[in-house]
Amino acid sequence: MAGLCVRSTLVTGANRGIGLGIVKQLLQMPNPPEWVFAACQDPKGEQAQELQHLAPKHPNLVNIPLEVTDAASIQAAAARVREHLKGSGLNLLINNAGIAKVISLDTETVENISQVYATWASAGPSFLSLQAFLPLLKKAAQGSSSSELSCSKAAIINMSSIVGSIEKICFWDNVQYISYRCSKAALNMLTKFQSLGYRQHGILCTALHPGLVQMDMGNSAGHKPPLTVDMSIQGMLNVLCSLSEKDTGTFLD
Ligand SMILES: NC(=O)c1ccc[n+]([C@@H]2O[C@H](COP(=O)([O-])OP(=O)(O)OC[C@H]3O[C@@H](n4cnc5c(N)ncnc54)[C@H](OP(=O)(O)O)[C@@H]3O)[C@@H](O)[C@H]2O)c1
Repeated sequence: MAGLCVRSTLVTGANRGIGLGIVKQLLQMPNPPEWVFAACQDPKGEQAQELQHLAPKHPNLVNIPLEVTDAASIQAAAARVREHLKGSGLNLLINNAGIAKVISLDTETVENISQVYATWASAGPSFLSLQAFLPLLKKAAQGSSSSELSCSKAAIINMSSIVGSIEKICFWDNVQYISYRCSKAALNMLTKFQSLGYRQHGILCTALHPGLVQMDMGNSAGHKPPLTVDMSIQGMLNVLCSLSEKDTGTFLD
């Protein structure tokens, strides 16, 4: 983790699960970010109690409201972040929030597909990155002395899943997850396009599979996943440290 030297980072879906775990580990780093923006639907609500307890102990933690399918909420969150950063850029945007529904090919519905897509593949990662936070990411890249792409400079990390891999088609016999799988496959494609579009601005874009984690979503596959949330996040932070030019546009485990 020593190499991850990030001045500011924003994590979506930060009130529980992997998002909360990332926030906690970032705050515990020997050299923590100056700003950790923990974005969630209702930072004052019951579901965000851990974040509420963390905030007084960590002046660098800012809990902000963000509903990733709502453009107005995204714009308001970007304005809050801009205000805190006072003219500097945002280094690392982690698009983590989302939902998974255990639905089979026979029972999948259009409503469900639209809802899951809105969170993973369209509104969330594209509005967040394309419209609202891109200027802040560009500013971070421009302010960096390094010519190399990295998470320390400016990066968008899209939390994907191995179940979105068309090549592997993992766990089909256990759980079909139709809309979830399709939305993650689309998210991987979006990541590729983001990498092509934003390379010139110095922004690294990578899709990451966190492993199968013992959280609500991982447990929904019907068996106990192998990784604790801490193991998954330690692994991901190590990967984030090592990301460079060759990794932009890729989908990594
Ligand atoms: N767990 C695994 O084994 C596993 C495996 C592969 C990939 N992943 C990926 O890792 C990421 C996190 O997974 P997880 O296991 O931590 O999931 P989780 O425990 O179900 O947490 C999901 C988070 O997303 C938030 N969220 C959902 N819809 C939202 C919306 N419209 N706007 C804002 N926030 C929203 C939830 O907020 P609320 O509390 O307000 O609902 C919650 O904070 C996801 O991208 C998932 O696909 C997980």
